[in-house]
Amino acid sequence: MKCAKLDCGVRSMPSPRIAVLASGNGSNFEALAAAHAAGDLGGSIVALLSDNPQAYALERARRFGIEALTPPAGRFRTKLEDEAPWLAALEEREVDVVLLAGFMRRLHAPFLARFAQRLLNIHPSLLPSFPGLDAIGQAHRHGVRVTGCTVHLVEDALDAGPIIAQRAIEVGEGEALERLTHRMHEAEHALYPDAVKRFLTQPWTVDGRRLLFADAGANEVSHG
Ligand code: GAR
Repeated sequence: MKCAKLDCGVRSMPSPRIAVLASGNGSNFEALAAAHAAGDLGGSIVALLSDNPQAYALERARRFGIEALTPPAGRFRTKLEDEAPWLAALEEREVDVVLLAGFMRRLHAPFLARFAQRLLNIHPSLLPSFPGLDAIGQAHRHGVRVTGCTVHLVEDALDAGPIIAQRAIEVGEGEALERLTHRMHEAEHALYPDAVKRFLTQPWTVDGRRLLFADAGANEVSHG
């Protein structure tokens, strides 16, 4: 879908149907599910899909009464062997929007094409700094004074795409990685539901690399 300069908000959908993809613990999924349960997400989570049958995210989904699925992931570690069963599961459930929440495999065409500008990810760094695995550790080892988390539209590149929201976190003098990780997750759990709600309920456009919200305060910087 070509959206530059058009109103690409998803407000025309009465209540967008959301699927979340997660590979592990699922604490971000839980933050999204809690916002949904409180009627504060701007859409309805209809399924949690995981590539890992041991993922705790699946148990969290069941506790929220959300359907938990494990389509076959195949033999590769960093990508799905065949995206077709994943797309079929999403089509069957008439999913409009897909949220990646600690989903540790790259998605490729035709998945990206099917959910163009309807596929979001959260990453624990201020992108474009520190994409990839262990972003919190990468930033900590680098000695940055400020890090943070990013919610973005997904493009066919690692942890890249127009930025929807970011939250900055100041790193304390000599702060331990464990403490920074804990604070990062707290920041993510606040940022992701807020960003999704804004994305689903406010008009926005994509102009080149930039996603622009039409509502006031779009460029406010939030601090964790
Ligand atoms: C989160 O910190 C998320 O930002 C990160 O994985 C963690 C999953 O935690 N995602 C990435 O690094 C994606 N590149 P969770 O399973 O508790 O939500």
